[in-house]
Amino acid sequence: MTTPSAGRPTFAVIDTAALRQNFATLRAAVGPGVAILAVVKADAYGHGAACVAPLFEDAGADYFGVATVEEGVELRAAGVRKPILVLTGIGHRDLGAVREHRLSVAILHREMVRELAEAGQSARLPIHIKVDTGMGRIGVLPAELPALLSEIQEAGTFEVEGVFSHLASAESIERDYSDHQLAVFREVIAVLEAAGTRPRWVHLAKSAAILTRPDTHFTIVRPGIALYGISPFDGDALAATAGLRPVMRLVTQVWQLKAVPAEFPISYGQTFFTRRPSRIATLPIGYADGYSRTLSNRASVLVRGRRAPVVGSVCMDLTMVDVTDIDDVQRGDEVVLWGAQNGAAISVSEVAAWQGTIAYEVLTGVGKRVPRIVE
Ligand SMILES: Cc1ncc(COP(=O)(O)O)c(C=O)c1O
Repeated sequence: MTTPSAGRPTFAVIDTAALRQNFATLRAAVGPGVAILAVVKADAYGHGAACVAPLFEDAGADYFGVATVEEGVELRAAGVRKPILVLTGIGHRDLGAVREHRLSVAILHREMVRELAEAGQSARLPIHIKVDTGMGRIGVLPAELPALLSEIQEAGTFEVEGVFSHLASAESIERDYSDHQLAVFREVIAVLEAAGTRPRWVHLAKSAAILTRPDTHFTIVRPGIALYGISPFDGDALAATAGLRPVMRLVTQVWQLKAVPAEFPISYGQTFFTRRPSRIATLPIGYADGYSRTLSNRASVLVRGRRAPVVGSVCMDLTMVDVTDIDDVQRGDEVVLWGAQNGAAISVSEVAAWQGTIAYEVLTGVGKRVPRIVE
């Protein structure tokens, strides 16, 4: 680890052995007959797609999922050869890049079919039809599917290689809503078959369903958060996540250490006053790095394997913690914002709970200026 004099010591440390282990765990969960589309959108959930995607490709990923054309282009630049699906659709101006970089495209509605057909294509564009089975987000409603299919067939410029949908509440122990979506999805497949369309890739399951609902696996599954070692569940279903290991540790070092008297105010707005003579450590990380201001006076960090509370407001670039109860803290000591240290750990899910959000937002919020260190 870099010393303070070597520069700002704030890093997201990426554990490649954990990435491999998580991929293997999911491979074992689905068995050899089901393919895996690794979801690496949002810079691989903040872990660095250019490093993560080639590693998953080596581990046997069959397909990749991104949110934007630019993310797909980045994967190609990183050397990814396997197919890449732009999960959230494209605009017709993206067609050039989609062609050049051999991206597959989610088709969301009839207008999109028309616009892409009018934009003109020489070769057939590989598409996956996105069906809204009850998520209420993107995709064609089942009732509109026959009209969409006719439009696709008439255009004659598309290769329907996939059909997919997204579950709205697979994390919940309550199975009813996923059961409903699954039933609708099965009807969708029947409609496609009746129209003579049998796509190779049929997909519905994200991490939670991959781990608990084999009946949703079809021909390919789309894990995201589980690949990064984070449970999509809380409570009872957690056991299903055995074999997953957190991939990212967010670390920094004690940047300045200060002994202050009792009744001493800390940070903007004086939201914290020391209650006793205290040792306050200032950390070179703040909300501009993705360590949210909502963690002010709520979170803890690890120093020497012990928890130190965040005191006062988290600033843009700096955060203060109270290390009075931890012996012998020194400037330059490693500080873990999330991850393990000396047998102790703070999980991303715990930070998310302090922040009033979910682990997905915490991970994808890690800022650009935090270097990813690959181990
Ligand atoms: C369409 C789609 N599929 C799969 C995933 C992966 O979900 P998870 O990270 O819960 O596995 C996402 C994530 O948001 C998604 O939007």
